[in-house]
Amino acid sequence: MVGLCDQGGVVLGLGGGPSQAHPRILNLNIAAHENVNVVGDAHRLPLPDGCLDGVHCEAVFEHLEDPNLAASELFRTMKPGAIAYVCTPFIQPFHGYPSHFQNFTHLGHKRLFERAGFQVEECGVCVGPAWAVATIVAAFVFQYTPRLLHWPARAAWYVIGNLFVRPLDRWLTPRPDAYVVASTTYVLISKSR
Ligand SMILES: C[S@@+](CC[C@H](N)C(=O)[O-])C[C@H]1O[C@@H](n2cnc3c(N)ncnc32)[C@H](O)[C@@H]1O
Repeated sequence: MVGLCDQGGVVLGLGGGPSQAHPRILNLNIAAHENVNVVGDAHRLPLPDGCLDGVHCEAVFEHLEDPNLAASELFRTMKPGAIAYVCTPFIQPFHGYPSHFQNFTHLGHKRLFERAGFQVEECGVCVGPAWAVATIVAAFVFQYTPRLLHWPARAAWYVIGNLFVRPLDRWLTPRPDAYVVASTTYVLISKSR
């Protein structure tokens, strides 16, 4: 995606902002966050047919009430030959932005885009099993235990996250069975010419 942006391609950051994957990405978001270029809905993209060379989409499809419709909108607005990188949570706690409707297994994620007409070039895990377990435990602690435990839990999160969770995921994420307890999976998809 970085290469496409560098070559002057039109790349949509679906649900992008405030984070900006590349300075030339056009971020579209339902909310007017910082770095959002277009305020719009993924279910009804305010874009003409076949105008995009690429799409970058991180952690957005779990927030869409009709993910099939949004996948079809991506298909409509991408040029033949265009590619998209989409990553979506599988094992993560409920989070808003502004709502949270579903998570996807690696197969559900893949089928979502195949149904819309895309070819799946690659599919895998981008955030690993240790992170999945850590975020579920952290959400449990912050949601259901007394407030006085939250500060020590924050300190523990920082230490355990850096010393154990990240190194463990560097080892677990490349495993072929990482999808079983993955935090987030990705697909690299293309629209055939
Ligand atoms: C978990 S955040 C991810 C933000 C960003 N992609 C990142 O990785 O930092 C989900 C984003 O999806 C946006 N969003 C939710 N529903 C949307 C919709 N229907 N159309 C476009 N964006 C939407 C939210 O406003 C929020 O910014």
